[in-house]
Amino acid sequence: METLESNLMAEIAAASDEPAIESVRIAALGKKGSVSELLKTLGSMSPEDRQVKGPAINGLKNRIADALAARKAELKDAATTARLAAEKLDVTLPVRQSPAERGRIHPISQVIDEIAAIFGDMGFSIAEGPDVETDHYNFTALNFPEGHPAREMHDTFFFPPGEDGTRKLLRTHTSPVQIRTMETQQPPIRIVIPGKTYRQDSDATHSPMFHQVEGLVIDRSANVANMRWVLEEFCKAFFEVPQLNMRFRPSFFPFTEPSLEVDIQCDRSRPGEVRFGEGNDWMEILGCGMVHPNVLRFAGLDPDEYQGFAWGMGIDRIAMLKYGMPDLRAFFDADVRWLSHYGFRPLDMPTLFGGLSQ
Ligand code: DAH
Repeated sequence: METLESNLMAEIAAASDEPAIESVRIAALGKKGSVSELLKTLGSMSPEDRQVKGPAINGLKNRIADALAARKAELKDAATTARLAAEKLDVTLPVRQSPAERGRIHPISQVIDEIAAIFGDMGFSIAEGPDVETDHYNFTALNFPEGHPAREMHDTFFFPPGEDGTRKLLRTHTSPVQIRTMETQQPPIRIVIPGKTYRQDSDATHSPMFHQVEGLVIDRSANVANMRWVLEEFCKAFFEVPQLNMRFRPSFFPFTEPSLEVDIQCDRSRPGEVRFGEGNDWMEILGCGMVHPNVLRFAGLDPDEYQGFAWGMGIDRIAMLKYGMPDLRAFFDADVRWLSHYGFRPLDMPTLFGGLSQ
């Protein structure tokens, strides 16, 4: 019995995991286990023998059972500790970003949202029109006479002639949407028209596809002073400066009379940097004017009753100026590295009260 006990104790001590201790238990205390077999011998013993052997065998059984239980608890603890160590979670690791946090809004989309926020606050709505236009909307109804050199200056992309012999084109400016809006809405009209425009031109500051925003105000009394106020308020809000000087120069567009070009005050003395609202330099940023009576007539409005003003501006250009992006072509390269650098967080919507660009 002593040998059996010391062997079992050694096996118990040597068991290195829960299955191992379980097989020691079965080998000792199971139905046919060595200690159980000893217990069975008690039945066939004489009462005298039993009196002596009984407590000895039961004592052995109890000591083995206790040792098994103690070792089992020990192994269970060790297994738990090992599992906790293996499954350790470092809560200081960054959480993987969701698409809404990782994605970026293209600067053009951002600037269009900024423009919409500023003009929306002044009571303007957004209007849109097709990229594929007719000669009538892109030129004729905007008072470009047939054969007038201004048509050539637009470097138009024409489609092959259709069955009726007329050629559609990719709109060269957003101005045709002025006509489409006046045809379908009664004055007063206050709209801005952001959109894609196309000309055959390509270098660091020109792309064959680019973006413009057009503005149109038509009512019975809209005048140059109102236009000046609207454009000044827009430029201050857009460039996020409290004060900004503007210069209105006479110019020519077929669809406005008088026509003006607008420069804004800027400082270009620091290399690679333009600051607005300070300095002695001027930068041209838009064309504007009072809507030509012929344009009102083409759009079905009576110029003796209605008048108004309009302007057009390159979105890509003002985006480059505001956010210091040097090459226009990068806008359309679809390079995710560029976009993650210059892009905007999708949930940071530009508003006048929250700040346009934060
Ligand atoms: N459509 C002109 C262009 O693309 C820009 C422009 C100038 C639009 C004066 C206007 C305007 O509405 O009044 O060059």
